[in-house]
Amino acid sequence: MNSLVILISGRGSNMQALLEAGIPKDRITVISNNPEAEGIGFAKKCNVETIILDHRSYPDREIFDRALAEKIDACQPKLIALAGFMRILSDSFVQRYQGRLMNIHPSLLPAFPGLKTHARALQEGIKIHGCTVHFVTPRLDHGPIVIQAAIPVLPHDTEASLAARVLLQEHRIYPQAVQWFMEDRIRLDGNRVEVMACVTHDAAVYSPGLSE
Ligand code: GRF
Repeated sequence: MNSLVILISGRGSNMQALLEAGIPKDRITVISNNPEAEGIGFAKKCNVETIILDHRSYPDREIFDRALAEKIDACQPKLIALAGFMRILSDSFVQRYQGRLMNIHPSLLPAFPGLKTHARALQEGIKIHGCTVHFVTPRLDHGPIVIQAAIPVLPHDTEASLAARVLLQEHRIYPQAVQWFMEDRIRLDGNRVEVMACVTHDAAVYSPGLSE
């Protein structure tokens, strides 16, 4: 019960960050719904167990989710981490793993749930953007927040430059959140998450910075 299942659909850079977080590789399984997912190659190179479960071979979402749950349960994982898993999960799936299903989202939730977060952030003219690790609930991109990282939106940012800087932070906070969970340092109290024995500070983030 101290193992980790990572669900991916594509590039797998967050998966890669999780594989490098120090959890023994023989306790990790990577499952992809997409046989072409780039991340699968990297996982294999790390000698991590990989499973392909092509959603197109299943008649509907419920049946795919049941097959996915079967694969997951066979690993008896302590935690299931969604890392760019581009499938909406059925309510029954989410409820089955409530409290041990995590996701990384490229915005400061609850702002910008869904897709195209960086383009929407630029369009809204926000000055501080970032990423969020949260527990998954049936409501899409909504659930108890474990950790967030905030970065300034720079005057000449494009969707690509902003995405790249946010992604760097994703790779920092997701392994941290997973590590906390694996070390039993996370306590869930309703919608609030307490992380035991972590560093806290109350420094404000300004964007743009204040004049000297
Ligand atoms: C990341 O931006 C993640 O926050 C979002 O999907 C993207 C996946 O990227 N959920 P990768 O596959 O981890 O590189």
